[in-house]
Amino acid sequence: MTRVGTELELSVDDVAHGGWCVGRHDDQVVFVRHALPGERVRVRITERTSRFLRGEAVEVLTASPDRVEAPCPFAGPGKCGGCDWQHASLDAQRRIKAKVVADQLHRIAGIDREVVVEELPGHPDGLGWRTRVRFAVDRDGRPGLRRHRSHDIEPVDECLIAHPGVTELGVTDAVWKDVRDVEAVASASCADRAVVVTPTGSKLGPLPELKASSAVLRRFKGGRVQSVRGRRGVRETVAGHEYRVSAGGFWQVHPAAGEVLTEAVMDALAPKPGETALDLYCGAGLFTRPLAEAVGPQGRAMGVESGAEAVRDARYNLRDLEQARIEQGDVAAQMREWADVRADVVVLDPPRAGGGAEVVRLLAGTRPRAVAYVSCDPATLARDLAAFDGQGYALADLRAFDAFPMTHHVEMLAVLVKRGTSK
Ligand SMILES: C[S@@+](CC[C@H](N)C(=O)[O-])C[C@H]1O[C@@H](n2cnc3c(N)ncnc32)[C@H](O)[C@@H]1O
Repeated sequence: MTRVGTELELSVDDVAHGGWCVGRHDDQVVFVRHALPGERVRVRITERTSRFLRGEAVEVLTASPDRVEAPCPFAGPGKCGGCDWQHASLDAQRRIKAKVVADQLHRIAGIDREVVVEELPGHPDGLGWRTRVRFAVDRDGRPGLRRHRSHDIEPVDECLIAHPGVTELGVTDAVWKDVRDVEAVASASCADRAVVVTPTGSKLGPLPELKASSAVLRRFKGGRVQSVRGRRGVRETVAGHEYRVSAGGFWQVHPAAGEVLTEAVMDALAPKPGETALDLYCGAGLFTRPLAEAVGPQGRAMGVESGAEAVRDARYNLRDLEQARIEQGDVAAQMREWADVRADVVVLDPPRAGGGAEVVRLLAGTRPRAVAYVSCDPATLARDLAAFDGQGYALADLRAFDAFPMTHHVEMLAVLVKRGTSK
């Protein structure tokens, strides 16, 4: 029996979803971090289940030509769990992600498709892009990042994937007494910054001075966020429009992602004046706004979002477009209420858990000619594509974007059309 802590030599030849390489030991599958396909490595076992082992490559015996020196000193076995592929060239990272997406589509949805992961503009070294970073704080008040699959905190003095606007706040140089975590947020332009602090107890004590001025917000248990000082949100500009985005709400963390995804979604759906567009899981209205502009005053753009602050932001961001309407609530519940609505085009951009079979069925019931499904998880995307297939919707196009360099995460856009029709 292979125990946790054992070290083994093995060859890894494949990749798996989640930042793992795959090897075998005595007919048992071993998922290995910090390795690359084609490498022979010495692996320390970190976890054992009845079906497989998990481990990390503590020594590389035969290196892949794709291997590079990790730019971050906190990346590596036993260290920060934030990045998965710092030791791979950016080109290799994108090939690995493409393979993972293609594998998930094949295994879960029976779809065979070549996938290319596209580079986003800016940040050619894959660093300095992340406009929101949540630091965990240890008992002594020192901020850091969680180790992989652990509650332990790796103290860091800088996160290299963090946007300069985040780094300039100096969150990691400060001591955060009685704080559980602190999220640093910067707008892509660096014009606005905020820190969102979660206290360990019921009270928020005095906070350290930061190097750059910022709003301060407090996160309560359950996720509600309240401003302590300064404005509640940051301003982001996409396609020439300024959006207000709550510091505690959702916004794409890569500065180029909003623009690239908006263009890709609008190209895919090509909404026409007078049409009805739905934007499910609409957040602050990133896609609702261009949809509303495209369908014009004779059309309708209807967004659904559960977060109260995001709903307030979305309504504010769309205040000048009377054809736009935002409903607050759960998407499935809203879709049940909209059983009689007929849509022409739909954007579906759920959290990692995906939309699920019920949302797909209810959405298909609105009989849209095209659906743009924006997803950050290839497994739930594949599951939902299978559900769409059952509802008569075929995958017409799939794009993938490297919106999270150095990590295993990838953003995808799947375009679905009703079978028997063209887009
Ligand atoms: C991936 S974000 C997308 C937001 C937006 N489309 C964007 O790109 O900025 C998913 C959003 O869905 C919201 N959400 C999560 N579960 C939901 C549900 N069951 N019903 C409605 N909205 C939900 C979250 O608050 C979040 O704003």
